[in-house]
Amino acid sequence: MNGNIIIKNASQIVTCSGFKAKAGKEMSELHIIPNGAVVVKEGLISAVDTTSKILAELEQSESDLSGYDIIDAENKAVLPGFVDSHTHFVFGGYRAEEFSWRLQGDSYMEIMQRGGGIVNTVEATRKASEEELIQSGIRRLDSILSFGVTTVEGKSGYGLDHDTEIKQLEVMAHLEKIHYVDIVPTFLGAHAVARAYQGAEDAFIDFLINEVMPEVAEKHLAEFCDVFCEQKVFSIEQSRRLLTAARKLGLKIKLHADEISHLGGAELAAELGAVSADHLLQASDSGIREMARAGVVATLLPGTAFSLKEPYARGRFMIDNECAVALATDFNPGSCFTESIPLIFALATLYMDISIEEAITAFTLNAAAAIDRADRIGSIDIGKSGDLIILEFPSYKFIPYHIGVSTVEKVIKKGNPVFDQTKGGLIHC
Ligand code: NIG
Ligand code: FE
Repeated sequence: MNGNIIIKNASQIVTCSGFKAKAGKEMSELHIIPNGAVVVKEGLISAVDTTSKILAELEQSESDLSGYDIIDAENKAVLPGFVDSHTHFVFGGYRAEEFSWRLQGDSYMEIMQRGGGIVNTVEATRKASEEELIQSGIRRLDSILSFGVTTVEGKSGYGLDHDTEIKQLEVMAHLEKIHYVDIVPTFLGAHAVARAYQGAEDAFIDFLINEVMPEVAEKHLAEFCDVFCEQKVFSIEQSRRLLTAARKLGLKIKLHADEISHLGGAELAAELGAVSADHLLQASDSGIREMARAGVVATLLPGTAFSLKEPYARGRFMIDNECAVALATDFNPGSCFTESIPLIFALATLYMDISIEEAITAFTLNAAAAIDRADRIGSIDIGKSGDLIILEFPSYKFIPYHIGVSTVEKVIKKGNPVFDQTKGGLIHC
């Protein structure tokens, strides 16, 4: 495990080359190298080109290759590791019962209003010990990694009180140290109104700003602050107040915006210059255009629309109007209990009129941009982290085509092989 690896003879290296989000037509440009090779040295990509050029260069420089793992990827496509830029993967308890109620016709918001939904998971997460959350977190990260995800964003928001919000973030900090998958933590204290503050939403926002956020920022427990900006949850004004305070403390900002009703979350994201606005099922035309102008990444979560039986976000319209679109799973115990990347690819390409090339950009470079890491991950470019996936098939076009089934054969993290389907899955070291 020294972070040195050479992958050669790949039928295609889908580089997704770029160091910032791609908007509009640029999203179709994948910069593919046929019969390609990639070299990763001490965890960072040091060369990418055709196999013949890379091998000739290595020979010429008389590099000692004994310290490199060499993988022959003949007939296989190589891509950057996927980035899942929106998840809620640290939580206690499950809500299978609520899922069955939704199948019988109850809506997500009805269940939430009668005391189920997010607050149901809040109770279970408050009760869970740190160790229990770590153990379930490891299992979920193992599964996330098996789908080719090498960086995941994770949100708090199942505490809604000081101690549990901090506990969730500390669990993520611990998981970040012990697991291969890199974790980008987000403070989502404003995920729902805590029971103790029902009817006093403003006081709850004050509590988050004054009693929780300073500690989150001071201990560097989160990179982002997020809010569920939604009718009957947090208003535009409350969201603006929270996010402005977060920014003052050095947190970057993102929003759950215009998911269930059209409240103007897209417009707010543009006004505040958020890094991303997520969901956007009900975003207005002008809100979308404002986001494009402000460079806010539009993160679409088709698994949630699918699971809630809601119409999909207007991905085609967004790309045609120069937005940078990212895709993510929204993995959570309520609205979308799946970490399946191939499912999201299938939904985006079959039902949202997003091309395969656009979907690849949306799950790599643009997803990296949605967590402000496009300079470090999300493409196969020299200097970026050696986070790569090798498919069992010769073309990226197999990703949505093999519906709902992972085509990822190997995962390389920082130049080290960490998953190999042909050897039984995860590689433990
Ligand atoms: O992104 N909309 C709010 N938050 C999550 C759902 C969380 C839950 O239901 O537990 C979402 O859909
Ligand atoms: Fe979410």
